[in-house]
Amino acid sequence: MRKPQLVKAEGLPDRVTIYEVGPRDGLQNESAIVDVAVKAEFINRLVEAGLTTVETTSFVHPKWVPQLADAAELLEQLDLPYGVRAPVLVPNERGLDRALAAGVREIAIFASATETFAAKNLNSTLDDQFAMFTPTVQRALAEGLTVRGYVSMCYGDPWEGDVPIDQVVKVGARLVDLGCHELSLGDTIGVATPGQVTALITAFDQAGVGVDKLAVHFHDTYGQALANTLTAFRAGVTTVDSSAGGLGGCPYAESATGNLATEDLLWQLDGLGIQTGVDLEKLVTTSAWMAKQLGKPSPSRVVQALAG
Ligand code: HMG
Ligand code: MG
Repeated sequence: MRKPQLVKAEGLPDRVTIYEVGPRDGLQNESAIVDVAVKAEFINRLVEAGLTTVETTSFVHPKWVPQLADAAELLEQLDLPYGVRAPVLVPNERGLDRALAAGVREIAIFASATETFAAKNLNSTLDDQFAMFTPTVQRALAEGLTVRGYVSMCYGDPWEGDVPIDQVVKVGARLVDLGCHELSLGDTIGVATPGQVTALITAFDQAGVGVDKLAVHFHDTYGQALANTLTAFRAGVTTVDSSAGGLGGCPYAESATGNLATEDLLWQLDGLGIQTGVDLEKLVTTSAWMAKQLGKPSPSRVVQALAG
């Protein structure tokens, strides 16, 4: 069977947007440094498969993430069709300068919900991260850019354990107040379970951040990503982050493995008749090709089942 039988279910959206993070969240964590031409081909193939939003790279400090040090060179090689959104990660004004020089129109800033991860990932504190983000977002908006805000460690932190829900909501609400059009709620180490997802979305709603502003971002370390995503859809979320082939992790988060694989997500969405515009077969071929480039099998169950 190369596609699931279509049976719709109640209480789900007709259409969702897949925000593809493989080239950024995936490749930032590979021990091998992937050649810039291979990255460009990867992105082109993802777009060819029907993905319309692809996070391409990061303008972070090249010593912190050497895998993405070629960000400017990569963007120069890309010539994406009109209408394809190609956001990049930017932590600070220096990153914004570099992104603007490369012609970027959409950025994502990334905040931590915990003190320890703010230190490890941003060399900052929970509070001081906003001193970095505020001028960055203000300038980006003044330049007409769109700004997404990530919140990391929403459901658990490898150093601090449980993360209080109001702490997550406070960080997220501050990003929205700064002008982020969308918040992506990151399960950076893949520990969340569905009850937490519902509780967090409800808590944001009570704090005035409606579900229309929320996206979800699950890593699949504990095999919970699909269940959590379906829970988010039932709560009204319609934007989901995933990574082709299940590539990914975070170099500054202990035990983080790959993101929810786009193919695994797509199998579920296709079965439920939820529209995405993405072609599963083309995506599987792309991830199998990328796995060859990386010299290791894709962790995606659907790629393993279909690529053989
Ligand atoms: P820092 O060392 O504190 O930086 O790092 P600084 O502001 O003190 O500056 C030191 C030097 O770095 C200066 O140069 C700056 O110009 C330069 P000097 O004057 O000494 O010659 N510099 C830069 N150069 C290039 N690009 C820049 C940049 N910024 C400063 N952007 C910093 C602070 C934030 C830069 C650093 O901690 C960093 O780059 N962190 C990024 C870590 C990262 O990328 N992590 C992975 C992404 S997050 C993630 O994966 C989670 C997510 O997927 C969601 C989830 O799963 O939860 C999004
Ligand atoms: Mg991530």
